[in-house]
Amino acid sequence: MSKLVQVKHPLLEHALTILRDKHTRTVEFRQHAAIVSQILLVEATRQLAVAPRLVETPLAPYSGWELDHNVVVVPVLRAGLAMLVAVQDMLPSVPVGFVGLERDEKTAIAHEYYQKLPPISPAHHVLVLDPMLATGGSLDDTVTILQRKGCRALTLVCIVAAREGIARIQQRYPDATIVTAAIDAELNHQKFIVPGLGDFGDRFFGT
Ligand code: PRP
Ligand code: URA
Repeated sequence: MSKLVQVKHPLLEHALTILRDKHTRTVEFRQHAAIVSQILLVEATRQLAVAPRLVETPLAPYSGWELDHNVVVVPVLRAGLAMLVAVQDMLPSVPVGFVGLERDEKTAIAHEYYQKLPPISPAHHVLVLDPMLATGGSLDDTVTILQRKGCRALTLVCIVAAREGIARIQQRYPDATIVTAAIDAELNHQKFIVPGLGDFGDRFFGT
């Protein structure tokens, strides 16, 4: 079964509660989305390989390390863009691909409207960014697209994940890892996560 990691950290709990608060305004929502994303990214990259690297400090040689893993980041448009800023701060040279999906408001079924991906091979580790995992339809479609492109190793980084969506991804993609700040119990009749935080994209982009 795929690995599920719920990250625990006081700064994360604090920022997540601000995101959940319906009174939080756009500026603060953006700031705390970035904080949550950075903390999740630290956990999502924990297993990446490093190789030895010798450098000279101003005083002496130093035997250090450098990242030795081909990483590709794929934010799911549009809300995944909220997490991309944090990733680019921490992994400034990584290639970025895009998958655009939007849920139909009535059926909650996502349709694809955009795709632009760099070359992906089985040697790459793909970090998929989508703050909300609700029914799992959007991430299910995204992983299918990535696997068709050659992706074999991936981590799905979410801010809030509902049990229904987690179960769907685990059943469909037993090798995928899910890293999330929160696991919420249910979806309402419109397939919104409860308690959740509402429509992430609308709150982040102020629409
Ligand atoms: C939201 C969210 C996920 C999706 C989750 O996107 O960012 O991509 O819904 O729901 P699911 O697990 O049931 O598929 P939305 O379709 O609202 O588009 P947006 O990112 O453009 O706001
Ligand atoms: N997308 C969101 O932005 N929020 C939800 O609760 C479900 C899907």
